[in-house]
Amino acid sequence: MNNLKDIISKKQLNGLRGVITIPPDKSISHRSLIFGALCGGKIKISNFSFGADCRATLEIVKALGCDVEFVNERTLTLNAPKCLCAPSKILDCGNSGTSMRLLSGMLATQNFKSTLIGDESLSKRPMKRVIEPLSLMGAKIKSNDFKAPLEITGAKLNPIEYINPISSAQVKSCILLAGINTQGITTVYEKTLSRDHSERMFEYLEANIQTGQDEKGFYTKIQKSELVPKNIEIAGDISSAAFFMVMAAIVPNSEVIIKNVGINPTRTGILDVFDRMNVNYEILDKKLVSNEEVGDIKVSYSPDLKGCEISGEIIPRLIDELPVIAVLAARAEGETTVKDAQDLRNKESDRITALSDGLKRIGIQIQENQDGFIINGNKKDLTGGCELETHLDHRLAMSFFVAGLVCKNEILIKDFNWINTSFPEFLTIFKEIST
Ligand code: S3P
Repeated sequence: MNNLKDIISKKQLNGLRGVITIPPDKSISHRSLIFGALCGGKIKISNFSFGADCRATLEIVKALGCDVEFVNERTLTLNAPKCLCAPSKILDCGNSGTSMRLLSGMLATQNFKSTLIGDESLSKRPMKRVIEPLSLMGAKIKSNDFKAPLEITGAKLNPIEYINPISSAQVKSCILLAGINTQGITTVYEKTLSRDHSERMFEYLEANIQTGQDEKGFYTKIQKSELVPKNIEIAGDISSAAFFMVMAAIVPNSEVIIKNVGINPTRTGILDVFDRMNVNYEILDKKLVSNEEVGDIKVSYSPDLKGCEISGEIIPRLIDELPVIAVLAARAEGETTVKDAQDLRNKESDRITALSDGLKRIGIQIQENQDGFIINGNKKDLTGGCELETHLDHRLAMSFFVAGLVCKNEILIKDFNWINTSFPEFLTIFKEIST
């Protein structure tokens, strides 16, 4: 756990070298609990993420009647009742949009009332994207003008075919979690494929689910099914690995191997960008774990970085990595343009404005656009010598830290403890590889 509120990031004089293990995947950890809660049996979850976001989901499944026991610091057993129980308290999702959006789908078909709340950042985030399709299915949800708190009165729902106007795995998963407990075929379409962890986990737990592509886009169809309780092993989170991957690419003399990282193709947009930008990397020891691809990622210092365009279908495959990719772009020769990423404005902060403001202070040439940004990079050290706000956003905090490693003058990052949301061990791992 990182308890330091404000920290300094400064030029890394020596290379970063070593073999590290990063925290378990946050998306899969949330799903292991939520899907596990629907299994009506006992499962073991190995390599679970104990960041604050997943702990919020953990407390909620406990409040719904699941019995959780810790086997060790990364492994737990989840014993789910045959039917979930009405919670006796308000369900607090903290900072976690994934908890709120996925759980709203699950709770909409339960036989009881529940209320989901969130922290200051989450209470400002849009929930219309889940309230709308669930209401089309017949769900009864009261909200504060389409924001949290969400008061959900569980009901029997009707299946729908929903064409998702945005590519969002949270929205897709919400509808599928309502669909798994609804008679008939519930179908979700999206134009570009967002992360498919829910589809893979449903398949693994033997739900009646089909995925494919037709003239309307990528579809997922789900029918009412009983899930089979099975143990789930979770890979490392590529979104957390991304900070160390970029550090290794921009700090001279670095070579870092990150063990056991999830390399599901719907999450590896950053590797496609690495190809375009000339980052030196390799994937070693690939395998399949609980229906998810996993491998070790080796990244070394990359002296010939060049700018590129990042737009279209790749955006959902790297949406969470864009802040740190912006830091990589600042060190690359030429322009990097990010387009079609307007949903970055709806994350833990408005990541387009907050990132542009922060990077400008560091001395990076960045132009903010409605749906992205343009960075004019070069291979020189960044200027730094500034104070930066993290805007209640863990990924901004860690991206600014990475930028600080190649700044002439040190930078002060305020409220760095927001990193506990996803990556409490960040500084400890950094110290391990600083030579
Ligand atoms: C997530 C989906 C993405 C991502 C978020 C986690 C998930 O959000 O940004 O960090 O676990 O389904 P959207 O679905 O809103 O794009």
